[in-house]
Amino acid sequence: MSIRVNEISDSVTLRLNDQAVKMAEEGKTVYNLTTGQLASKPDFDFIDSIKSELNFLKSYQYSPVAGFVDLREKLISYIFENRHVAKEHFANLDCVISSGGKHNLFHVLLTLVDPGDEVIVISPFWISYPEMIKLCGGKAVYVDTRSFDAFTPSLEAIKKSITPKTKAIIINSPNNPAGIHYSDEWMKGFAELMIQNENVTMISDEIYFELSYFDPAPTYFYNHRPELLSRTVIASGISKCLASTGLRIGYCIAPKKMCSAISKLQSHTASGASSLIQRALASYEFKLIPDYLRPIKNQLRVNAGIVREVLRSRDVARCWYQPLSAFYFMLDLSLTPVFDKYVENKQDHNDYSMKICEDILNKCGVALVPGTAFGFPNSARISMVLEKTPFQIAMEKVADFLIS
Ligand SMILES: Cc1ncc(COP(=O)(O)O)c(C=O)c1O
Repeated sequence: MSIRVNEISDSVTLRLNDQAVKMAEEGKTVYNLTTGQLASKPDFDFIDSIKSELNFLKSYQYSPVAGFVDLREKLISYIFENRHVAKEHFANLDCVISSGGKHNLFHVLLTLVDPGDEVIVISPFWISYPEMIKLCGGKAVYVDTRSFDAFTPSLEAIKKSITPKTKAIIINSPNNPAGIHYSDEWMKGFAELMIQNENVTMISDEIYFELSYFDPAPTYFYNHRPELLSRTVIASGISKCLASTGLRIGYCIAPKKMCSAISKLQSHTASGASSLIQRALASYEFKLIPDYLRPIKNQLRVNAGIVREVLRSRDVARCWYQPLSAFYFMLDLSLTPVFDKYVENKQDHNDYSMKICEDILNKCGVALVPGTAFGFPNSARISMVLEKTPFQIAMEKVADFLIS
């Protein structure tokens, strides 16, 4: 095995998932709160678009490497109408469509990062950022956040982490795993910081943009300083907003030069994304997405309320903050009563996430993702996509455990 692959980590989530599946096969009731995908079918209009493209030869042949031109133009317009950016600001931008958000982000990083370059990552982070940066020979530089601040990083801490080697910073708002998006005020301050750091590229992972269920909706630094779009890569995809993780379509919107470079890379790694799904997307009305997501967002809002009520009423409120978007809530286990049973003393800074999550699974039948995976020790990620009743039961069980 190459040193490169040897050095990246396995997914620590697999062990608990395997155990959860085994328990379910043994007939035990398991509440799986690990998932990062919606349990509903994609928008039926989108399914109809796929069906109607099935009879065309073009759907089975290579698309242009960067993706079909009509779809790329549609995605650019969709993004900027949604983000309220004036047309004049995206004249120099293009779009590359890849086989999923992950594939797209890996291409973006491979195009930007040379060995030794630093990329700033906010902790807790989406698990693949550090491994991708490592695969590029780069170094992830972490900026920590706290549950007390609803996982919003301080601009001062970001400023301190910038060095002459900083190539890029990844901003993921709405955020996986924290389930929050940064405020407009924060984005304004971040924009000013980035104006002063003209060698840093901003990678804005906006894959959960459509899934914010409390106002105000997410805004971005480029709303305040549109000139930053000349060194910004907006990354997104259909996995979350169209409940289509398996269809594998992701894309980026970036300066034309950057898109040509990503496209050159993609010509050798993938040729292009699925033609069938691209064609279906080109004939799908993106403006239907909010209608499709309305009931899903209602359910996320209800489940966010359950998290709050259960944690508050059971006297575990110290670990609570208001989730706003995406599918998740990050439980800070170090702020719960049960944590004292795990640590030896106040100086014990070991990470007990895996051990606690194993105990929660074995004793309560609830599967969570240990925070270790997200670079946030002694925590667990709760996915809120389950239906209300089983979610409520699962949360009650978790709360029982946390105060035991
Ligand atoms: C923050 C974030 N970015 C990107 C992705 C990649 O999405 P995809 O399933 O399209 O590869 C995910 C998937 O979970 C994610 O959570």
